[in-house]
Amino acid sequence: MNNNQQKKESENCFKIDFHEEFPILKSITYLDNSSTTQKPQVVLEAMNEYYTKYCANVHRGLYPQAEQATQVFEEAHQTVAQFIGAEADEIIFTSGTTESINLLAQLLGKTLQPGDEIVLSIMEHHSNLVPWQQIAKEKKAQLKYINLTKDYHLDLNEAKKIISKKTKIVSITHMSNVLGTINPVKELTAMAHKVGALIIIDAAQSTPHLKLNVKELSCDFLAFSGHKLCGPTGIGVLYGKKRLLQDLEPSKLGGGMIKEVTLQNSTWAGLPAKFEAGTPNIAGALGLAAAIKYLQKIGLKNIEKQELSLTKYALDKLKTISGLKIIGPPNNKGRGAVISFTIKNAHPHDVAEILARENIAIRAGHHCAMPLHTSLNIEGTSRMSFYFYNTTKNIDAAIKALHKVNRIFQ
Ligand code: ALA
Repeated sequence: MNNNQQKKESENCFKIDFHEEFPILKSITYLDNSSTTQKPQVVLEAMNEYYTKYCANVHRGLYPQAEQATQVFEEAHQTVAQFIGAEADEIIFTSGTTESINLLAQLLGKTLQPGDEIVLSIMEHHSNLVPWQQIAKEKKAQLKYINLTKDYHLDLNEAKKIISKKTKIVSITHMSNVLGTINPVKELTAMAHKVGALIIIDAAQSTPHLKLNVKELSCDFLAFSGHKLCGPTGIGVLYGKKRLLQDLEPSKLGGGMIKEVTLQNSTWAGLPAKFEAGTPNIAGALGLAAAIKYLQKIGLKNIEKQELSLTKYALDKLKTISGLKIIGPPNNKGRGAVISFTIKNAHPHDVAEILARENIAIRAGHHCAMPLHTSLNIEGTSRMSFYFYNTTKNIDAAIKALHKVNRIFQ
């Protein structure tokens, strides 16, 4: 960002024209940020620099390029740690939220006994549901789900009843990728810890938008993806409390994660290497660190403010479309910049298709949350999701197109 990019007349609170940093935004109204986000030049440059100037494996070579790669890779752990208030050896790089949760399901699943309970919510993404379902089947454990209140928040009274002495694991999304609901994870953490259960936070949708601190949340584990916060695809994070990670046995075995190997035995390296077997996604980690620094420069609080204002603007405009029903909290309270909706008589795919013809990108379907849609008795929804680079102009374009859809199908 430089002064040339500063615009007097801008529709975002930053007074910055993000088109320079994200050229793709010149050619598309991009409202599918819950799926993935666009990448600023600094992220691409960080990765390009690694590939063109010091491409070498990490933790192995002794030549300058290898030492630089190792140093920058380790700094990436520190950047992520500082971003979420953790320590560098509590940060494990994975390929994304899905891999982070699958890894936890494998690691923690070993400790489960028949009859133990795993508590999830009805609004979970499949990546925080299917792995637990499989582990529950293998271990003869029970899955329990916390339902919604009528205004699409988590029913905390039900949570208090469901989380019991039988509960061993609670795994909950911080922000629903469909409803936009932000869950009170601190309260849920307290409930889990009161009965001696571990709590995992799926922060795929919240980390890009809210300032998080794992120590304040006091959660045991937290997972997120790089590509939803302007980073590259294929890189993600599993945070775990150090003492818990130290006690867990690794499940991915091979190079880079050992201390000593004999023909019959192996011992493990320290954290986080113990859980990062094989050549890691080095360029991805550097790209993620560059993305985090970019977001920090803009300011997470500013990002939150911009998105709240866009969400309020969009909710107010959407309410003027007669056949449209918002599937999620109706106002800004306890929700993020994700708005799903149905339009009477219109299939969500038709809605997305008509908007696509106008160069507007939204997502439609079950959004990898089939049980949520089934519980709401709907087949699918259309979804707009914003990021800091979106503007009220983008929303106006979508609203205009949605009015058109509404006219066609009524
Ligand atoms: N989890 C991503 C979404 O909600 C892919 O679209």
